[in-house]
Amino acid sequence: MKRIVSGIQPTSGLTLGNYLGSIKQFVQMQDNYEMFIFVADLHAITTGLISPEELRQNTLNLVRSYLAFGLDPNKVNLFIQSTMKEHAELGYLLMCQTTLGELNRMTQFKDKSAKFQKEANGTQKLPTGLLIYPTLMAADILLYSPDYVPVGIDQKQHIELTRNIAERINNKFKTELFKIPDIIIKKEGAKIMDLCDPKVKMSKSATTHKGVIFLNDPIDVSCKKILSAKTDSLNKINYDVDQQPEIANLINIYSCLSDMTIDDICNKYANLGYKEFKQDLANLLQDFLSSYQEKFKTYNDDYVRDVIEKSYTKVKEIAKAKLDEVLEKLGFVNYEKC
Ligand code: AMP
Ligand code: TRP
Repeated sequence: MKRIVSGIQPTSGLTLGNYLGSIKQFVQMQDNYEMFIFVADLHAITTGLISPEELRQNTLNLVRSYLAFGLDPNKVNLFIQSTMKEHAELGYLLMCQTTLGELNRMTQFKDKSAKFQKEANGTQKLPTGLLIYPTLMAADILLYSPDYVPVGIDQKQHIELTRNIAERINNKFKTELFKIPDIIIKKEGAKIMDLCDPKVKMSKSATTHKGVIFLNDPIDVSCKKILSAKTDSLNKINYDVDQQPEIANLINIYSCLSDMTIDDICNKYANLGYKEFKQDLANLLQDFLSSYQEKFKTYNDDYVRDVIEKSYTKVKEIAKAKLDEVLEKLGFVNYEKC
């Protein structure tokens, strides 16, 4: 079986964008791939804004969400990033093979940095973690030698950097140490936009939450966000991302939730207006969220711990073996062997 690695940060509650852009694909792939899916808790502290209590709760809740959406712990290796110390150590080694210029060019770094206020004297206190985030992400991937990394389109640049770092190290040390992974981006769901601003992605870190659907929010709050989503004045259900970006985003969400094609949706609503369309989409969302939230509640802390323990040994073995191989190739003395 081909191998897959991916993860999500437990920075706050999950959004519909996270589900449609990544978790949905994981669930669909679990029968046909060897999967390593983790909670990227080390990434969650890179902004320096999360409290220990939030980090703990969000981490456990993200495992619950994975399960509630249908990831089967008998098929998928589910784990928490920080329990595998190898990620941080390989992250350091990769960071030393990366230039400041490469990291400075990352769009996510620029976007996230822009959110930090400048002080009166013009200085901006940016956490270094934000800058080195992509080298940690490269470590998350390269430790497990995956064939594919399924992510939303916003992560494409980070995967390209991962490939570059891996190729660079292979060339520099004349080895086939790292397997070069391919990215998988599903067309639908690749980028779910904010319901109030179709120019920005639906994101946990948006300044206002009016256009963001959080999966664990009360369902009526989320349905209202659909009903009050921004639309144009044409009142025509057309999939035209340039001319009608708001409605195109809603059609995209509709398609992902119903598994209907975009064409079928446009035909179905050819003679109807936005009001009927939005109401039907809100109903779809309601069914989807109630089934998810119902399951989410059933996993207590003990169950979550059992799930994590289940794959621990296997994941650890793979991570440790790869890290040992890298350390040896780079010339570090292995005290156990010398
Ligand atoms: P993050 O919340 O940044 O850890 O993202 C976790 C995964 O969800 C990544 O694969 C992202 O690309 C994906 N993702 C996040 N927001 C969206 C969105 N609005 N549309 C599609 N995918 C998304
Ligand atoms: N950086 C990803 C995001 O913000 C999360 C992530 C961390 C990830 N490590 C990863 C995704 C490794 C895929 C593979 O969305």
